[in-house]
Amino acid sequence: MDLGISGKKAIVCASSRGLGRGCAEALADAGCELVINGRDGPTLEATAEAIRSRTGASVTAVAADVSTAEGQRALLAACPDPDILVNNNGGPPRRDFTELDRQAMIDGVVQNMVTPIELIQAVVGGMQARHFGRIVNITSLSVMMPIPGLDLSSGARAGLTSFLAGVSRQIAPDGVTINNILPGKMDTDRLRAGIKWGAEQAGISPEDEASRQAQQIPVGRFGNPEEFGNLCAFLCSQHAGYLTGQNFMVDGGLVPTAF
Ligand SMILES: NC(=O)c1ccc[n+]([C@@H]2O[C@H](COP(=O)([O-])OP(=O)(O)OC[C@H]3O[C@@H](n4cnc5c(N)ncnc54)[C@H](OP(=O)(O)O)[C@@H]3O)[C@@H](O)[C@H]2O)c1
Repeated sequence: MDLGISGKKAIVCASSRGLGRGCAEALADAGCELVINGRDGPTLEATAEAIRSRTGASVTAVAADVSTAEGQRALLAACPDPDILVNNNGGPPRRDFTELDRQAMIDGVVQNMVTPIELIQAVVGGMQARHFGRIVNITSLSVMMPIPGLDLSSGARAGLTSFLAGVSRQIAPDGVTINNILPGKMDTDRLRAGIKWGAEQAGISPEDEASRQAQQIPVGRFGNPEEFGNLCAFLCSQHAGYLTGQNFMVDGGLVPTAF
């Protein structure tokens, strides 16, 4: 399917690895010009080069912490007028809620709620003026279903979701959409770290914990960044102009809900 976004400019935050990279790869396949991001410069450069050589896309690498004002300035300097913004960031570390002090809670809210809102504020005016914009936020299944040790992640991302539910309707008349993709258990470095944490808690091997978790998913396996990225690219496409303010679970059926 031609997604109709060849030549569009996209900022994909936190995209040197994992789900962000999956989104960047799929947008490059669709012909977008990319700005990709991560904190570790060598990893980011290697990803940029891999995407360029595989797809021929223009890829600018911005090594920066997206949660900071300087990091956001650097991203926007590299692409002042994006047509597409994919908001992504690291998630808070797994921790029992009793162990979270005030600073940890503020950091989590900045990371997963304030940062995407700030970036949307910075780019939405231009998108509205050009009558085209696609904003996708990578949130989490934890918005729908609690995950042990990730209460801060759930709370901050649910806050983002509710905040943008109104904003998405406000800007819809100007051809700008905002949607959220909720990853379930996608096979990335972060998932593997969570499996290690779960194995330690249960006193079993990481292999046994991975197998236990995969068996709980109706599809019977973890998801992968490629299938996640393809949904993101579709939501950024010309075909998705009638989809806004929605939450798309990519979870292999893990959350047993009818709606
Ligand atoms: N994988 C899953 O199953 C799953 C499930 C639910 C929710 N999520 C959420 O989805 C998001 C992506 O997860 P993932 O599995 O793709 O994680 P990942 O494999 O750990 O990759 C994270 C990416 O974000 C970058 N990054 C992290 N913090 C950053 C920062 N402050 N500024 C800029 N870049 C940053 C990392 O690069 P550097 O480390 O070099 O900065 C890396 O490229 C996370 O918020 C995660 O909590 C994932």
